[in-house]
Amino acid sequence: MRSPTPSPPPGVDTVLILDFGSQYAQLIARRIREAGVYSVLMAPDRPIEELQGFHPKGIVLSGGPSSVTAREAPRCDPRIFEMGVPVLGICYGMQLGCQLLGGTVESAEAREFGRTALRIRDDSDLLAGLPDRTSVWMSHGDQVSNLGEGFEILAASETCPHAAVRQPAHRFFGVQFHPEVTHTPHGGDLLRNFLFPICGCNGGWRMSDFLEVACERVRSQVGDGRVICGLSGGVDSSVVAALLHRAIGSQLTCIFVDNGLLRTNERTLVESTFRGHFTADLRVVDASDAFLSDLAGVTDPQEKRRRIGHRFIEVFREAAAGVGGAGFLAQGTLYPDVIESGHGHAGTAAGIKLHHNVGGLPENLGFELVEPLRDLFKDEVRALGEVLGLPSHVVWRHPFPGPGLAVRVLGDVTRERLAVLRECDEIMLEEIVANSLYRSTDQAFAVLLPVRSVGVMGDGRTYDSVVAIRAVETQDFMTADWARIPYDVLATISNRIINEVRGVNRVVYDISSKPPATIEWE
Ligand code: XMP
Repeated sequence: MRSPTPSPPPGVDTVLILDFGSQYAQLIARRIREAGVYSVLMAPDRPIEELQGFHPKGIVLSGGPSSVTAREAPRCDPRIFEMGVPVLGICYGMQLGCQLLGGTVESAEAREFGRTALRIRDDSDLLAGLPDRTSVWMSHGDQVSNLGEGFEILAASETCPHAAVRQPAHRFFGVQFHPEVTHTPHGGDLLRNFLFPICGCNGGWRMSDFLEVACERVRSQVGDGRVICGLSGGVDSSVVAALLHRAIGSQLTCIFVDNGLLRTNERTLVESTFRGHFTADLRVVDASDAFLSDLAGVTDPQEKRRRIGHRFIEVFREAAAGVGGAGFLAQGTLYPDVIESGHGHAGTAAGIKLHHNVGGLPENLGFELVEPLRDLFKDEVRALGEVLGLPSHVVWRHPFPGPGLAVRVLGDVTRERLAVLRECDEIMLEEIVANSLYRSTDQAFAVLLPVRSVGVMGDGRTYDSVVAIRAVETQDFMTADWARIPYDVLATISNRIINEVRGVNRVVYDISSKPPATIEWE
């Protein structure tokens, strides 16, 4: 259930992105926002009249996992080429655009994946200012074998003769590579060429404009209805709460659920921070018994998330009844939660894990969801938090997953095992803060493994739990690298955990990046 698409603030240029299911679709939107242009991501089958209603300055066709040669491949209305605005097709979007304008797409002999050298032949518009040879990120099996009438080649690679093309009659540009990823070093220049000289955008959009649009969107969605907002104490839900408070004031009630899966002192901390900075209504609900009994004996990570998602909704339903029957539930869902749960616009992105607030929800929700951050990345949410005037310790807090310690106690989630993990987690965070590593790492935590190992303590043999500690550096939490925290800090954390926490005799440091690992272990 998506909220209605916002209209742009008056006088702000809009670029539409038709999402064909690429993992990178939101990255295109983000790059466009970074360039100061308002962009809206939407399903490719939206009626042409709706697209026209945005009065866009340009349209981008994203990449996607399908083959345009397949009958069921997603398409868009070919009349977008009659709208008189420039269209940029990226990867699948290029192939589709070329096909719709008379070209042919075939499965290439050599699949191209990764960094590729691009030779530029025509740098008069889209590729203006780029060096003659530059590297670009390719990821495709099909390619355009024959260009339709009136097409011109702008650049080629070793195996892809039509790596960048133009069809002036329909103001269409196509690139077989991905300008939106950081592995294409001049991708930002290419997108800016498209946005400014080609589309004629003015570039005055800022995060404060997003706030205005988001508030307007919330008001038009909820009318005079009551909204409850699940507050977790993390930056995402705090930003949602602050945004909603600004948009609808006293129609909002925030609910903090103690699910028994929180870190030490979390409940007190969230309550005092909230009451210190917000005037909105806050209710604290202790539902730890219900969550823990739902989780008894469950070891499968997806099932844990599903049960937690369901229980949250149950708790919110009861809370909603207590505030006069709120029909709306606001959540701090971000774009990575959506895409990693396999819920992109085209519904074709692969599911990695069911984020408790996306894939873990029951079918019959009983609420209409309000998710104003659904299109943003974490660092953009932080920027929005600053625009909203949230205190910096809230804005810069490390994220904590909604399913809480349940996805960090691997295997059975019991009160005893949660208590062990809480102690380890507290030590880990204390040392990260004490050694000034909180701001240079983006997330740091401990994980209780479902294995025991042999040790020796004093003169006796022990057979106790193993704890993994993890610290990562990341910008947007879609990719991450393990933090190179100094050995002596690791040593202190390990010594403290083994000496201070009963039942743990071994600590290991997680040195996996994402991908191929994820940040959380479950
Ligand atoms: P992964 O493990 O997918 O995590 O690399 C990416 C970021 O998302 C957080 N995370 C979640 N947050 N509900 C949330 O609210 C969830 O179900 C969930 N799963 C992971 C994780 O802590 C990291 O910051």
